[in-house]
Amino acid sequence: MLAEMKSGVMDLKFCILMGSPRKKGNTIKLLTPFVKELELNNIPYDLIWLYDKRIEPCIACRKCQENWSIFGCHYQDDAREIFDKIRESDVIVLATPIYSWFCTPPMKALLDRLVYGMNKYYGEEKGPSLWAGKKLAIIATCGYRPEKGADLFEEAMKRYCKHSQLKYVGMIAERDLGYKTVFVPNEERAKTLARQIIDQND
Ligand SMILES: Cc1cc2nc3c(=O)[nH]c(=O)nc-3n(C[C@H](O)[C@H](O)[C@H](O)COP(=O)(O)O)c2cc1C
Repeated sequence: MLAEMKSGVMDLKFCILMGSPRKKGNTIKLLTPFVKELELNNIPYDLIWLYDKRIEPCIACRKCQENWSIFGCHYQDDAREIFDKIRESDVIVLATPIYSWFCTPPMKALLDRLVYGMNKYYGEEKGPSLWAGKKLAIIATCGYRPEKGADLFEEAMKRYCKHSQLKYVGMIAERDLGYKTVFVPNEERAKTLARQIIDQND
């Protein structure tokens, strides 16, 4: 207990945004050992299945720029509770299958809502990033080799993090060899990513 408090582990909270529509698909298989590692270390987390939520696409009305301390979006949908859960967390995990070289649509819609709702950069005056300093990691599965399947999404998220003042931690991406092949996740890589984030002190 004392060791945990010293290392700051007690304070760490994860918000996992799950972008797969398939409850028993490849991405949850890769995410499961990661989550088990969090549980083993008594790390609290939220796991949010984005296809179960209503997340409208951003319409660039910029209402979110009027108040620098709240989300402020004009939509009354589920992105609000996700915004709050992210603000309570230290680490954001984007777990997604790659669709057309990017994340799936509800995750893209959420990323757009957050890049404006969290970053108060777009009003009359430039305001703060409300999530500066939080960490972001990616867990992806894709049909192509990860270097050709998940590379563009990773690059986009690196820029997204820099722009938002988030700390990009890294990505694990595993290949799906097709519907006739059983997907076997690399559990060790997923556990290692979890441990790496838990053990980081900054
Ligand atoms: C509509 C659609 C688009 C896809 N686009 C890509 C792609 O651009 N690149 C890629 O490597 N794999 C692509 N895939 C393959 C998925 O990323 C892969 O099968 C993934 O493991 C599915 O994860 P899931 O079982 O969690 O849904 C696509 C699959 C679908 C259904």
